[in-house]
Amino acid sequence: MSDGNSTVSSQENLAADLQVVRDYLDRAAEPDALSPDQMAGIRIELKGVMQEKNARLVAHYYTDPALQEFAEATGGFVGDSLEMARFGRETDADILIVAGVRFMGESAKILSPDKMVLMPTLEATCSLDIACPIETFAPFCDAHPEHTVVVYANTSAAVKARADWVVTSSIAVDVVEHLMEQGKKVLWAPDKHLGAYIQKTTGADMLLWDAACIVHEEFKARGLQDMKAVYPEAAILAHPESPAAVLELADVIGSTTQIIKAAQSIPNRQIIVATDQGIFHKLQQLAPDKEFIVAPTAGSDATCRSCASCPWMGMNSLQAMLLSLQEGSNEVVVDARLAEQAMVPLQRMLDFAAQNQLKVRGKA
Ligand code: 13P
Ligand code: SF4
Repeated sequence: MSDGNSTVSSQENLAADLQVVRDYLDRAAEPDALSPDQMAGIRIELKGVMQEKNARLVAHYYTDPALQEFAEATGGFVGDSLEMARFGRETDADILIVAGVRFMGESAKILSPDKMVLMPTLEATCSLDIACPIETFAPFCDAHPEHTVVVYANTSAAVKARADWVVTSSIAVDVVEHLMEQGKKVLWAPDKHLGAYIQKTTGADMLLWDAACIVHEEFKARGLQDMKAVYPEAAILAHPESPAAVLELADVIGSTTQIIKAAQSIPNRQIIVATDQGIFHKLQQLAPDKEFIVAPTAGSDATCRSCASCPWMGMNSLQAMLLSLQEGSNEVVVDARLAEQAMVPLQRMLDFAAQNQLKVRGKA
């Protein structure tokens, strides 16, 4: 990114926010601190309140398996961020409960302004969102008026409102290819790894913002090569938020849903996965005969909190969801003017997705 000052301030914001998350996680009750009977009681109570209020749970693959199972058992949905947005808009529920991170709740609210959108916690954010504040992003866009502004869904409503297009990882390459065909230059934000991957795949003229996902950035190519030597028959599936050196080694690169589909169709029995460990629940469910191995990260469970595990996704729990639904607390509110502006690029993405068959990239 050409604006050096905004990188520094973004990093300071990120460090401060990470401390908030660590403090929160230290205070938060561990989900397994409750007995199976207590958990069963919470599920029963939740089902009752959800029926009474016509509420539906939309959960991301990275959330606790207990939430994913509960979403599916109660007519809700588990998916990647594009599918979550679609489901939220299409369901006839009066209340959407979004288990994921804040940008997912905000996208749901923008796309469904007449529904009440609740989250188990509003503190669940994303390092990409934090590192792309509108105060520095808007001037960066203003300085490059000849570029089409394409932002990742992992951004605030204000950043989306400043964009021409919003994309998720499942559709980013296709959208940029489409823009390239029209001779457009692209300003991309915020994930530099996903941006570099799109640029390499499409050959588009792109200006990249400088931010990363704290989870995927920890995957290491060197460790992955060593692991591949131990499991020579294994396929490597990676999320495009991973660094370029990791993606170089991958057989398939795609969004969480695309990874899950590839795991089912690829012939390899052993599969190394470079994304958040929360996805292993669905992978194991849909491909029970396969062995899934988490790709190596910089630290180990004992030395870091985000080793292949998003701390913000980890803030979601059934207990917090019950409280939010009973009290109507943690409602996602988006400024009406921003919502109206952000709806345009979001809707553009959904229309594009509806018209295009999304592809999974890979050597497989
Ligand atoms: P997906 O769109 O692939 O679900 O990714 C969302 C995300 O936050 C990945 O870290
Ligand atoms: Fe953001 Fe990374 Fe967490 Fe996804 S895994 S929500 S990109 S911090």
